[in-house]
Amino acid sequence: MKIIKSIAQMKDEIKEIKSKNLTIGFVPTMGYLHDGHKSLIERARIENDVVVVSVFVNPTQFGPNEDFEKYPRDEKRDADTCADSGCDILFMPETSDMYQGNYSTFVEVFGLTDRLCGASRPGHFRGVCTVVTKLFNIVKADRAYFGQKDAQQLAVIRRMVIDLNMDIEVVGCPIVRENDGLALSSRNTYLSDNERKQAVVLYQSLQRAKELISEGEYEVNTIKNEMFRIIKTSESAKVDYIEIVDNINLKPVERIKGEILIALAVKIGNTRLIDNMVVKI
Ligand code: PAJ
Repeated sequence: MKIIKSIAQMKDEIKEIKSKNLTIGFVPTMGYLHDGHKSLIERARIENDVVVVSVFVNPTQFGPNEDFEKYPRDEKRDADTCADSGCDILFMPETSDMYQGNYSTFVEVFGLTDRLCGASRPGHFRGVCTVVTKLFNIVKADRAYFGQKDAQQLAVIRRMVIDLNMDIEVVGCPIVRENDGLALSSRNTYLSDNERKQAVVLYQSLQRAKELISEGEYEVNTIKNEMFRIIKTSESAKVDYIEIVDNINLKPVERIKGEILIALAVKIGNTRLIDNMVVKI
């Protein structure tokens, strides 16, 4: 596996791969890789000739009071994980190379980004879309792999790729969970032992919602109230949002119909966790 840190070198490498007509699968990440990331890399390995993973903690997607500075980083471990999962090229650009002094261009998807996480993290998706566009322009992949864990991010990237005529296939991949159901996340490392135990309420509330729907409960407010009740059984939980929305346009629905996304963001202590489930009736 090659580790490349400069954009110019990465572009040269991509030119060479393209000259051989090989397909490229790309997994963008912010590092501190876990089995969720690993599942995307392994999927890319199966479907492409060359697998590129990027590790870049992107400053433009963090708000001023968010965790950019303390976001966990471990380059050595990430390199080992990438090599073990079948990555060919690990791209770790420098912030000063990605955002040079006079940097002035941003990519913004409207509508889809004003709700759910977009409402509590203004500017977040603008940063995500900007960095993903830049990475797509550098890596020129045939396919890019994103986790369903960040359901809104996936919907926004799909919209951006269509709207801007980007020549890349976006592949959504299932959420990887711990044994007790907690979705894997680099941010789980912020949780104390006690908080980690309590964090399972996110998944439990989603499971309960799914169960209620399967029993014929289609009233969104009733389901949301029950989810809220389950989450509040954890004394360190503070609900940011619980929403039931259309899975394509992310608009709230009043009754369950078709394919819906149940999404939530909850603070456990100081750590903001997100999770979701897609339910189809
Ligand atoms: P990051 O949080 O590192 O996630 C990278 C990719 O891994 C995303 O597509 C995310 O949805 C996926 N992922 C994370 N946890 C997962 C899990 N438990 N199961 C399956 N997939 C999971 O998302 C970002 O980075 C950034 O916003 C990025 C797209 C790289 C732009 O900076």
